[in-house]
Amino acid sequence: MNSPIGIIDSGVGGLSVMSALIKNLPNESFIYVADSKNCPYGNRSQQEIYELSRKMVDYLLQSKVKLVVIGCNTITVSSIDKLRKDFSDIPIVGIVPVIKTAVQCSKSKKIGIFSTLHTAKSSYQKDLIEKFAKDCRVINIGSSDLVSLIENLDFEAMDNALIEELQPFMAEKIDTLALGCSHFPLIKDKIQKYLPNVLILDSSEAVARQVKRILKHNNILSNLTNPSYNFYTTGDPNALRYLANKLTTKGKIERISLQ
Ligand code: DGL
Repeated sequence: MNSPIGIIDSGVGGLSVMSALIKNLPNESFIYVADSKNCPYGNRSQQEIYELSRKMVDYLLQSKVKLVVIGCNTITVSSIDKLRKDFSDIPIVGIVPVIKTAVQCSKSKKIGIFSTLHTAKSSYQKDLIEKFAKDCRVINIGSSDLVSLIENLDFEAMDNALIEELQPFMAEKIDTLALGCSHFPLIKDKIQKYLPNVLILDSSEAVARQVKRILKHNNILSNLTNPSYNFYTTGDPNALRYLANKLTTKGKIERISLQ
């Protein structure tokens, strides 16, 4: 079935997930929706995040997508259960940090999780830590500024923020870091520069594998030889244009308003 896959994020972070999806599913079309006007979500309440993300999923359903990927950890941990109830006719795949893999990879059993404030404080993530990392020392840091700096393509300020925010990981000498915000793989090289001996893991490949499994299982894999990629944002399209162009030269970028 050749309908597109929908991806949502508060901003450009979901592009890191889309990159893995395109690699693993080259025949699929995609519609990407960013709520750049209301980004960042990470400092917002659970109710606000739910209401904003619901509008994006609604928009995707009107565009007749066959599956929704929540390319945002913050939306996933705060709202995926509610969104799945609201939109029970369509598969919804979320993203969370790969804590289990981080524990398996860590030799020192000291791991880090780097996410937004909302995700770091969420009970969803606490449960994951409890389930998979009970026997590890876990340094769980939520960043309040980094998402906005990435949205503004403010590379210099990003470096300053990273020097400060990565400090606890350096002090504790973690050997493995799970990225718990989809914006952060976009600046993985920068993070690696400050944590040179740390294995940095992100979740986009795991999400792509899960999406592929569901499409196969539901028999709705696409067979398009020239799939389409379209990008929509509620705010300034500058960062989306810059980063989407690195991903693909195909597709249009349009500003929309969500009701
Ligand atoms: N990409 C989102 C995430 O994965 C960022 C959330 C935000 O807007 O703060 O958490």
